[in-house]
Amino acid sequence: MSALETPVLRAADFRKISALAREKFGLNLPEGKEGLVAARLARRIREGRFRGFEEYFRWVTADQTGEALTALIDSLTTNHTSFFREPAHFDFLRERAAGEFRERPSLRIWSAACSSGEEPYTIAMTLLEAARQTPCRWAGDVQILASDISTRVLDKARAGVYEAARFDQMPEERRRAFLLKGTGARQGWFKLKPAVMDLVQFERINLIGPLPRRAFLFIFCRNVLMYFDRLTQQTIVARLVECLEPGGYFFVGHSETLSGMEHPLSYVRPATYVKAGRRGV
Ligand SMILES: C[S@@+](CC[C@H](N)C(=O)[O-])C[C@H]1O[C@@H](n2cnc3c(N)ncnc32)[C@H](O)[C@@H]1O
Repeated sequence: MSALETPVLRAADFRKISALAREKFGLNLPEGKEGLVAARLARRIREGRFRGFEEYFRWVTADQTGEALTALIDSLTTNHTSFFREPAHFDFLRERAAGEFRERPSLRIWSAACSSGEEPYTIAMTLLEAARQTPCRWAGDVQILASDISTRVLDKARAGVYEAARFDQMPEERRRAFLLKGTGARQGWFKLKPAVMDLVQFERINLIGPLPRRAFLFIFCRNVLMYFDRLTQQTIVARLVECLEPGGYFFVGHSETLSGMEHPLSYVRPATYVKAGRRGV
């Protein structure tokens, strides 16, 4: 196939790709999404010089490293994110961390589809700011688990280096507190300071696979549920809630909702839920 030709997605190709994406990642690609699949995968087919979708599919399923599958999911989902995206959640986190949770000896937080790291680093900055304003007992013991299915975005997240434009909306004071400005070949880039990066541990976790055996006080599960069908969403939420402490908070994206779904959470405010039960100290 030449660099200019557009590969043709036949109905049989679409069915195979959509079944594979569902089996491996829980991704929902019902009929009607053919255009999306064709557009998103065309570049991979051209760049890999495959003769078409069938050959590409055979290559993905034969690859033992798992990298081809990861690249496939990367093409089918978006990794769009930003620092302080949907800021109401971070205001809420700041309030609770410095309020009802102020006397806790530690804080454990999970960013469960962290993309390139902006979300967990925002959590870290929020907590550092909160502890600077109000003395909090947990200040010396914060752990933020940040996970995603995509190794590509996780590598970027671990590096903690971003183009300056990513911070355009960030107040100068916050930039000075948390960012190191690149010089020379690194001009136009910022790196997060160690104080921010040290609070975050990255791991590759597929939300439909084994989940951490730890309990978290806050779980951020934002802008990822939209990729799954309703039943898979419900299963994922139920499994994530098992990782949430009683009295802990669960966030979804503001364009997502848990309404109409069976789950043991109570609504607090838009895109914010709490797990019933008594909080540990
Ligand atoms: C749009 S980003 C959301 C980033 C961040 N949570 C935010 O709201 O800004 C969605 C992320 O979900 C990840 N993702 C998709 N399917 C997944 C799965 N089965 N398990 C874990 N992560 C998944 C994608 O790789 C992508 O990085």
